[in-house]
Amino acid sequence: MAGLKIAIIGGGSSYTPEIIEGFIVRKDELPVKEIHLVDIKEGQEKLNIVGSLAKRMVEKAGLDININLTLDRREALKDADFVVTQFRVGGLDARAKDERFPLKYNVLGQETTGPGGFAKGLRTIPVMLDICKDMEELCKDAWLINFTNPSGLVTEAVRKYTDIKCLGLCNVPIHMKMDIASMLDADSQDIFVEFTGLNHLVWGRKVYLKGEDVTSQVIDKLLDGASLSMKNITDLKWNAEFLRALNMIPCPYHRYFYMTDKLLEEEKEAAREGGQGTRAEVVKGVEEKLFELYKDVNLKDKPKELEKRGGAYYSDAAVSLISAIYNDKKEIHTVNTVNNGTIKELPNNSVIETNCLIDRRGATPLNIDKLPAEVLGLLQSVKSYEVNAVEAAVKGDKSKAILALASHPLVPSAATAVEIVNELIEINKSYLPQFK
Ligand code: G6P
Repeated sequence: MAGLKIAIIGGGSSYTPEIIEGFIVRKDELPVKEIHLVDIKEGQEKLNIVGSLAKRMVEKAGLDININLTLDRREALKDADFVVTQFRVGGLDARAKDERFPLKYNVLGQETTGPGGFAKGLRTIPVMLDICKDMEELCKDAWLINFTNPSGLVTEAVRKYTDIKCLGLCNVPIHMKMDIASMLDADSQDIFVEFTGLNHLVWGRKVYLKGEDVTSQVIDKLLDGASLSMKNITDLKWNAEFLRALNMIPCPYHRYFYMTDKLLEEEKEAAREGGQGTRAEVVKGVEEKLFELYKDVNLKDKPKELEKRGGAYYSDAAVSLISAIYNDKKEIHTVNTVNNGTIKELPNNSVIETNCLIDRRGATPLNIDKLPAEVLGLLQSVKSYEVNAVEAAVKGDKSKAILALASHPLVPSAATAVEIVNELIEINKSYLPQFK
């Protein structure tokens, strides 16, 4: 693989400078020759703006990487070595609807969790399978690194329904590790977190600092006000008795399950007339400003303002994973991959987020201790939702869609699940041909 070809689907995303920076930082490990930024017609303007910035960044770094901007996905995929997916079907408008409509049923509206994440999964999975079909034809040996949300669900669909080599990725584990390092005043290289669970439902079961178990110190710090959250989730503090009883480090997204009432109130407040708007509505404003900055021909680096988005460390996670595969590093990364008996209480063929050894063959999950009952309950009900959600998305099966939501812990009743499914199919009908 001399001179790597990388295809980035959703290349017009405001996050693209992140991943370009990731390739620049790792220039000595990865002989990248071409980066193809792919988007759809509606994204052409953004692609041109962010693509020009990508070119300036690479030029400033003195690298001989050809950045190609294209609407032709097949051309970009042809003979690619790595394909990164970071697209959003329906854009931020669809996300804003996902965040708003569940609120009237007194259910959380969120980009990846609950009915909002479900709607996003239904819109996204058919597109992803289509990309994989192209990959099977044009670059069947390429690795697909999926960032597209809901990352676990989308990765499960790819692994169940295609032969493409795919790993799902999320910035939550790396973000948690960085936050933990900073609260312990330690170097992140010295921290090891035993992550396991599902995407956006991952627990840090134990934290080690230079091999010493410091889990209870991290819990003390959290209870003492240390921050462990993402830009898109309010840093609500954990109940002390609960956290000590749990004795693990929940991820920022666990707040949706363990603090549902508070977050629902907060979302309703934001969504009311005159409120600040849902997260997607806030992000639209952030994006507009970002693209204004990106237009400046004197800008040749990733601007600081991108840090207002939830995706911090995204490029570190993605490009270091690509490098670990390419260089056969045998490093430990936290990725979404097939369970294969790692969490014995979940189906073998489902996808989990867990620590894995990464080398040229891909990801081999590390063996883990049995999970305790209090964690398993939540994990199994979310997985049961995910299994049916993937089937519903692939087959356009409304019964499966109802069963998926009825088993989701954030949906209070089967009748509400039915109402929500009907509404979300109606709202998203132009993106859900499989339900016609
Ligand atoms: C976190 C999550 C991502 C998600 C992002 C949203 O980083 O891990 O999966 O897409 O937040 O951030 P945004 O700025 O778009 O709200």
